[in-house]
Amino acid sequence: MDERRKMTAPELRAMKMRGEKISMLTTYDYPMGQLVDQAGIDIALIGDSLGRVVLGYKNELQVTMEDIISHAAAVARGAKRALVVADLPFMSYQVSDEEAVRNAGRLVRESGAEVVKLEGAAYLSAIRKIIAAGIPVMGHVGLTPQSVHQLGGVRKKVGKDADSAARVKSDALDLQDAGVCGIVLEAIPADLAANITNSLDIPTFGIGAGPDCDGQVVVMHDILGLYREFRPSFVKLYADIWQATLDAFSAYNSDVKEGRFPVRK
Ligand code: KIV
Repeated sequence: MDERRKMTAPELRAMKMRGEKISMLTTYDYPMGQLVDQAGIDIALIGDSLGRVVLGYKNELQVTMEDIISHAAAVARGAKRALVVADLPFMSYQVSDEEAVRNAGRLVRESGAEVVKLEGAAYLSAIRKIIAAGIPVMGHVGLTPQSVHQLGGVRKKVGKDADSAARVKSDALDLQDAGVCGIVLEAIPADLAANITNSLDIPTFGIGAGPDCDGQVVVMHDILGLYREFRPSFVKLYADIWQATLDAFSAYNSDVKEGRFPVRK
């Protein structure tokens, strides 16, 4: 993709057709939105991982519409080329189709996000109505963190046995039929992800789903070493920003305590 062209939802399918890999990174604020653009990353995702890695919540369930709107708006102010995708938080789309459409509209209108993402294939009629309202939707199957209590945890693979693999695949096909512009495949076996990817016309984005998806997505704080509680085994640490920041803060602290900053002129 040309470095200067604005990424759009329809462009995702065109990239898949051209065989171009698509990069997505979770992004939570203005400077990181600018950096995502400068690096040429295609999609900035304001995921509800925001709750754990930025806001210090116990899990994704505590994230509110206000949390996502405020962070997505900051990202959208920084990222001008990347496609800005924002998660619909827990209980913002499950209660009724009407609430789902209203909340999707609010997220797009109040933050500047261009696509909304929601989990699972249980809300196909809500997805169809959001799309009918003119808002592109991204799906998310496999491990779905908003169902943490039903799954009994979020540190396990989904789709390992034949029944569960068939369910994940049929969810992905149902989501494509409903009109989503792409699907995140989280924590499923690589061969299942490859099979789903080859069965769809829309792109898949793997996270812990092997190399054969159309694109990849990771949590920014995992690749920068900024989330200390847990790092999934598939994640590559691209920079240790925790340590670099700790070194900078410690140097500033001792400079102030020992009178080296500010420098007397
Ligand atoms: O919330 C999030 O960060 C996500 C990614 C894991 C895909 O949904």
